[in-house]
Amino acid sequence: MRLFKTIPALTCYLELYRSGNQDLIDPVTNPTSVPMDGGVGLVPTMGALHQGHLSLIRQARRDNRVVVVSIFVNPLQFSVNEDRDRYPHPMEGDRQLCQQAGVDIIFAPSPEELGIQDAPSELCDITMVIPPQELTRGLCGRSRPNHFPGVATIVTKLFQIIQPDRAYFGRKDAQQLAIIQRLVMDLNLPVEVIPCPTIREVDGLALSSRNQYLSATERPMASALYQSLNAAEELFKKGERSTQVLVNQVKSQLEEKPFIQLEYVELVDPDQLKPIKTIQNRGLLAIAAHLGSTRLIDNLLLQTRQPIIAIDGPAGAGKSTVTRRVAKALNLLHLDTGAMYRAVTWWVMQSQVEMTDQPTIAELIHHCEIEFHPPLNQLEGEGEMRIGINGHDVTQAIRSREVTANVSTIASQPAVRKALVKQQQRFGEQGGLVAEGRDMGTHVFPDAELKIFLTASVAERARRRHADLLSRGQPIQHLSELEHSIAERDRQDSTRRVSPLRLAAGGIEFITDDYTIDQVVEKIVNLYRQL
Ligand code: PAF
Repeated sequence: MRLFKTIPALTCYLELYRSGNQDLIDPVTNPTSVPMDGGVGLVPTMGALHQGHLSLIRQARRDNRVVVVSIFVNPLQFSVNEDRDRYPHPMEGDRQLCQQAGVDIIFAPSPEELGIQDAPSELCDITMVIPPQELTRGLCGRSRPNHFPGVATIVTKLFQIIQPDRAYFGRKDAQQLAIIQRLVMDLNLPVEVIPCPTIREVDGLALSSRNQYLSATERPMASALYQSLNAAEELFKKGERSTQVLVNQVKSQLEEKPFIQLEYVELVDPDQLKPIKTIQNRGLLAIAAHLGSTRLIDNLLLQTRQPIIAIDGPAGAGKSTVTRRVAKALNLLHLDTGAMYRAVTWWVMQSQVEMTDQPTIAELIHHCEIEFHPPLNQLEGEGEMRIGINGHDVTQAIRSREVTANVSTIASQPAVRKALVKQQQRFGEQGGLVAEGRDMGTHVFPDAELKIFLTASVAERARRRHADLLSRGQPIQHLSELEHSIAERDRQDSTRRVSPLRLAAGGIEFITDDYTIDQVVEKIVNLYRQL
């Protein structure tokens, strides 16, 4: 692991790495057996690292070849009367935690190095990034008006200096997350923001560097915040949708705890952060309160959407059959992502564009709209979902030999994947679907309630493929040839740069060698019913 305090040293190192000098990265902390693309992941922090940060680092470690952790207590996000001076600075402890977690680079600049005065935001004279007011005026922004411009400015600077492919932020700071997602979109920054779940103590207290300020008597009381949110969530689960009722539930719980001074409790739209009167699909229930001299925040996402099942796995593991049958058994939409790539391939072919002309294809895909429709003979409860693209029903056409021959060329193009991932996520907004592919749980629906990695040994998959070819009267390949090509396909899938194939965080690996399709389907259906 390397620690850099200056921008030239850090950028020189990253440039060397990006120009192909991959030996720079320590093979011990970064074993090549872990499938990773060549990307750089950034975890921005203000130090005083805890398990919450470590979970971001672990996610970054899973997704990237290089993991950078920045440690910088940013003066721009503190006002004169805030706790900047007492913010903890345990640099040696942080260094050790990073080392143990397999971080490649710590970037720990001084304020001067970043061109910032070492003073509260009001006294700093620097070009600022100002997020839209509608996102900053409510929730924490009401009592901390300089905070989010300070965060947006430093995060933009870090993105500029490090140029990460991905950046990791916790959902505990939900307003910060929404603002950074908006920042990246509005300024077209070429980085993917990865939201990560809030990590809690056993009693529910959300982890935060500020928890260190709590005295031994205050600490057990601090879980009251989470408990009050939980009480509202219980009502929500019973069908309550009114903001007033849900917010009052939190307030009445906290009224019984005189040691907690409530700053706000609000129910807002999770992306726009606008107050809502009732929850249609999703609502962010957010709270800030003081316990002694410590300010704590927490939130819960309340959503009405039905759960999502994401099924990933290598070729030949029986994903398509299992997914189709699970969808039918649970009456969920079968999001057949393979069919989506086929539909796009069909559209490219219709448009007579060369399969390798990536910019033209990117342009074409930008204007594509894919639809799924119930099967024509729905009354009998049978048949496949129909798929359309830009108003054309292509259910049959996408199964042609020409489409089959071209689909992998199209599916490997980053612009195509990006556009289709967006469409897939739009289908997921309402929930109630089962999606099958190679990156459903890792990339498209990382928040899916059930993430399954369906696999089987190479020998078993070769055996199944052999039997399948035989039953369809197709030319038979020798078993060892099949095994060889399946192993090769696995290697390509799990090491490719875009969305490598691997088990998602929180996913369940299901090795199906000794199971029948019926048993696999039954197991997944049961897991879903227990959610
Ligand atoms: O969440 C934090 O620790 C900080 O706000 C961040 C994102 C590192 C910016 O200083």
